[in-house]
Amino acid sequence: MIYKWEKNLETGNVIIDAQHKQLINAVNSLLDACTQGKGRLEVETTLAFLGDYTISHFADEEDLQIKANYPEYPAHKKYHDDFKVTFTEFAQKLKKEGPTDELVGEVYVSIGDWLTHHIKYEDAKMAAYVQRAGAA
Ligand SMILES: [Fe+2]
Repeated sequence: MIYKWEKNLETGNVIIDAQHKQLINAVNSLLDACTQGKGRLEVETTLAFLGDYTISHFADEEDLQIKANYPEYPAHKKYHDDFKVTFTEFAQKLKKEGPTDELVGEVYVSIGDWLTHHIKYEDAKMAAYVQRAGAA
C-alpha cells in the first residue's frame, strides 16, 4: 500500500496542506526506493529528504501554534519531538542494515501511519483552532 492524498487529510490550512502533501509524497518515495531495489543511494537520498522536510514542516506548524497561542502546543510539540527521535533511530538502522523487510514495515507503521494519523487528528484540530484565532 502506498499512501494517497485523501480529502480527510485536509486541514483547511493551505500552506500546511501543501506541506503535508509533500510529506506523503516523500514517504512514498522512500517506500519506492526501499521496495523496488532502487539501490542504496536512492534510499539514502529519499530518507534524507523526508528527514529534512519533516523538521522544517514541524517548525512551521509550531510557529503557527505559538502565534495563535494554541493551548495544546506543548502536547503537540511533544508528538513532533517524539517522532523526530523515532525517525532518527529508524534512519540510523536503515543506513546500517539497508531496506530489510522489518525496516520497510517500520516505514508503514512508525512513519506513514503515524503521520497520516497525526494529520487527521492533531493537525486538523490545531488548524481549526488557528483559523478561529485568526492567525492563519
Ligand atoms: Fe503536527
